[in-house]
Amino acid sequence: MEATLEGFASPHLFSGSTLDSYTSGVWHASALLADRVKAVRQPYSGASVTDLQAQVDAVDLDRPLGDTGAALHEVARLYLDNAIWFHEPTYVAHLNCPVAIPALSAEVLISAVNSSVDTWDQSATGTLIERRLIDWTAGRIGFGPGADGIFTSGGTQSNLQALLLAREETLAGLGEPRDAVLSRLRIFATAESHFSVVKSAGILGLAADAVVAVATDGDGRMEPGALAAAIDGVRRDGSIPMAVVATAGTTDLGRIDPVAVIAGICAEQAIWFHVDAAYGCGLLVSTRRRHLLDGIEQADSVTVDFHKSFFQPVSSSAIVVRRGETMRRIAVHADYLNPRTATVPNQVDKSLQTTRRFDALKLWMTLRTMGSEQIGDMFDTVVDRAHQAWEHLRTDPDFEVLTEPTLSTILFRYRPGPMSVEACDELMPRLRQELFRDGQAIVAGTTVGGHYWLKFTLLNPNTTMGNLKDVLDLIRGIGVRLSLPGENPREPMTGETTTAAVMA
Ligand SMILES: Cc1ncc(COP(=O)(O)O)c(C=O)c1O
Repeated sequence: MEATLEGFASPHLFSGSTLDSYTSGVWHASALLADRVKAVRQPYSGASVTDLQAQVDAVDLDRPLGDTGAALHEVARLYLDNAIWFHEPTYVAHLNCPVAIPALSAEVLISAVNSSVDTWDQSATGTLIERRLIDWTAGRIGFGPGADGIFTSGGTQSNLQALLLAREETLAGLGEPRDAVLSRLRIFATAESHFSVVKSAGILGLAADAVVAVATDGDGRMEPGALAAAIDGVRRDGSIPMAVVATAGTTDLGRIDPVAVIAGICAEQAIWFHVDAAYGCGLLVSTRRRHLLDGIEQADSVTVDFHKSFFQPVSSSAIVVRRGETMRRIAVHADYLNPRTATVPNQVDKSLQTTRRFDALKLWMTLRTMGSEQIGDMFDTVVDRAHQAWEHLRTDPDFEVLTEPTLSTILFRYRPGPMSVEACDELMPRLRQELFRDGQAIVAGTTVGGHYWLKFTLLNPNTTMGNLKDVLDLIRGIGVRLSLPGENPREPMTGETTTAAVMA
């Protein structure tokens, strides 16, 4: 390879003259992936952090292999052989889904064309496709024609942007100097809401106690009476309500806050109403459970994570707002990119990001190939399965189950008759680690009411009751073994924690 007057001719740069290299590279990658996936029998190899660390560290990044095939084989050993496989039916831990194949076809196009949906002159039809999908999602929510939104990197970013809009709307309404007001702004959410709400408050420059925890009912849903009282209390203290965040699908219990009632309170009190439907958004396309989201159409903003319950590869999320004009408050114009005088649609005006992947194409391909009803049916299937699993767990004397599921999470623990609550709390995190080390199944863990629970999060419609019974048998077996006298606690997995927030 050398620089000539014609340019630097690298066979590794995608172009019309390197298509042999491109097609061979992509073919090789997909063939290798297929080869590995065919052999996968469990969600994890069980490799230890120490082993994998040594293998990754041993790679000399300054000595390239020079050949895509060789680099792929190295990556297969390092990454694919020890990946966490979300498509395996005994992966039932976090909010990760198996992915729709039409979306994977889209990924091939997205990364090679490499459009950036920040401006029209870097995306053209990409901008229009994203806008159609935002309109489609807004329609499913029940918003009118004035709605708008933008694709984001995930629920965390969508929630941040929603609260940014809420802050700007509140400040505009007050007309007082920003610095005098910021520390008095308050957000109302429950302890069950996602930790990105608290994180966002910090990023937005609000006070350390800006997020007011509203009490929940016995099932973990926001209590509307408690919300009204909390709002009154904040006003009496001279603080200013900025937003109420309801969750449609809490991370641990899958609960849906009473959205319609909360919407009424927010409308009466003129407070921005955000619904975090990162998890529950699959209900938007459900034929049997759409009613669970009734009232969502009254929200000011909604978070939807297509990469959770629409079976999309990461990243694919959006924030959708009822009144599109509220998004203009965050527009910043740069002469080189999106001047005020632009006459073409520039998505960057509405986004926290500048360069941005054309993730929308994945959802487009999925809808155009499978249709929304099939997505809704798959989500309904995992919710059905959660109910079956709950019924099963209720009758198994070796297990305790917390409550009936609303969506597709179930909190349970191995606690045969004579085991004390304290012993169970001590055993559960160890049991979960052992299960992870074994690799045949992966479950999550969390703390509720001061007690440690194991968690099934079901997002794979291929997971059968037979698979779940197998996982329960594995848990039972490990539980029996670890309960034997002399079984000492082993070193924890890296990152192991009992806080719900970190495991989410
Ligand atoms: C209710 C809820 N909101 C937001 C998020 C954050 O989404 P993401 O991981 O896509 O940033 C999660 C993640 O689990 C969630 O459960």
